[in-house]
Amino acid sequence: MADQNTKILRGRLLTFHDAPQGPEDTGAYSYDEDGALLIEAGKISRRGSFAEIRAAAPDATVVDHRPHLILPGFIDTHIHFPQAQVIASWADQLLDWLNDYTFPAELKFADKAHGRRIARGFYDALLSHGTTTASAYCSSHPNSVDAYFEEAESRGMLMLGGKTMMDRNAPADLCDTAQSAYDDSKALLQKWHGRGRAHYVITPRFAITSTPKQLEAAGSLLKEHPACHLQTHINENHNEIAFTLELYPEAGDYLGVYESFGLLGAKTLLGHCIHMNERELGVMRDTGSVAVFCPTSNLFLGSGLFDRKRLEDAGVKTAIATDVGGGTNYSMLRTLDEGYKVLQLQRQRLHPLTCFYWITMGNAKALSLADRIGTLEPGTDADLVVLNARATRPMALRMETVETLSEELFVLQTLGDDRAVVETYVAGEARRPE
Ligand code: GUN
Ligand code: ZN
Repeated sequence: MADQNTKILRGRLLTFHDAPQGPEDTGAYSYDEDGALLIEAGKISRRGSFAEIRAAAPDATVVDHRPHLILPGFIDTHIHFPQAQVIASWADQLLDWLNDYTFPAELKFADKAHGRRIARGFYDALLSHGTTTASAYCSSHPNSVDAYFEEAESRGMLMLGGKTMMDRNAPADLCDTAQSAYDDSKALLQKWHGRGRAHYVITPRFAITSTPKQLEAAGSLLKEHPACHLQTHINENHNEIAFTLELYPEAGDYLGVYESFGLLGAKTLLGHCIHMNERELGVMRDTGSVAVFCPTSNLFLGSGLFDRKRLEDAGVKTAIATDVGGGTNYSMLRTLDEGYKVLQLQRQRLHPLTCFYWITMGNAKALSLADRIGTLEPGTDADLVVLNARATRPMALRMETVETLSEELFVLQTLGDDRAVVETYVAGEARRPE
C-alpha cells in the first residue's frame, strides 16, 4: 500500500534549470505535455512522464490537473506584511505615502490580535495568487514577527521575514532604538531562524529611518548570523535619496551608507535600485547583493523605471517582487505584466520564458534557495502552482489562436491573475483558499 501522503500530480509540467537566453534555448527548461510528479512526505521524489511515474507508484492516488500547467510555486522576494490594509491608498510619492498611510497602518500591529488576523488574510492572499514563498517586512513590533511566522508554520510554508528596525523619522510608537532593535531582532532570529521552514531576515527599513548606530547594530547582527538574509530599500525616489545624503553626508552615495556598515553580500536584498550610479553598480556586483525590481510599486508611487539591462550588464543579480502595499497586486503574474511594460518603455523586451524563469527559479537563486524551491527537481520541496490559461473569457478567446508554450505563458502573464490559479500546493498539500 502507498503511504497516505504519497500522490501523483499529473499535468503539463514546466520547470527551469537556468535563465533562458532566448526562445530557442530549450536546454534552459524542461516541459512535459503529459508529465507527473511523485509527491512523498512533502517533497518531489520523482519527475517524469505520467506513464513512467504511474509504473513506479501504481498504488498512489492520482490528481489529474490536465490540461493545466504545473510549475514551481511563485516566489515574491519583497513584500510588506503589515501593509495589507495600505494597498490601494491614494497617496503622493514615497515619503508622503509612508507618513500618511503606511506608518499609521503599521502602528496597529502593536496589538498581537490584529497581527494574527491580518496574517491570516495575508497568507490567504499569497496562496490564492499562487505564491508559496515570500520575503516580508513585518512591523517594528516583535509580536508582528511571531504572528507572521506562526501563521506560516500552520500552513507549512517556507517564508522569510523579520522585524523592521527603525529608530527615527517615524511616529514615536513605531520607533525602537538601536539597542532594542538589536536585542529584539536577535531574540526573534534565535527563535525562528531554521525552525521548520522559517528563515529570519535582518530588516533595517532604510537609511532614513535608522540612525548610524542602528545600521551598525544591523551590521553586527549580520556578521554574527551570516546564515540570515538582510533586506532594505535603496534608490527608490529622488526625495528619499536627497534626504538620505543629508543624513549621511560622508557616505558619498546611497549604497555607500549600507556598505560602510557591512550590510552588503550575497544574502542582501535591496528593494528598488532605480536611481543607481556606476560606482553603486560595481559594489553591488562585487558584493553579490541582489537588486529587487518592484514594478507595480514603482509605477504606483511614480518612483521611476528599473533598468534591468543596465544592472545585468554590470553583473548585478536581479529579482522581482510585488512590494505590496506600495505595490498594487499580490499576483506575480500581474507583477510580470507591469514589469514587462516598464522594460518595454526602455526598449527591453523580456521573453515570456525569461519572465516565468524569473518568478520561479530566478527568484529562488536570488534568495540562495534554489536547492529547495523554485524548481520541480526531485528532492526539492513540493511547493507548486497549477495554472489555467483559459481562466477568464478574454483568456479563453485569446487561447483559441495560441499554438506554443511561450504564447500561452504570455497570455497568462498579460491577462492572468488569481483566477488563473487552479491550485497551490505547499509541501505537497493543496492549500489554495476557497
Ligand atoms: N522605503 C522605506 N519603507 C518603504 C516601504 O514600506 N515601501 C516602499 N516601497 N519603500 C519604502
Ligand atoms: Zn518595500
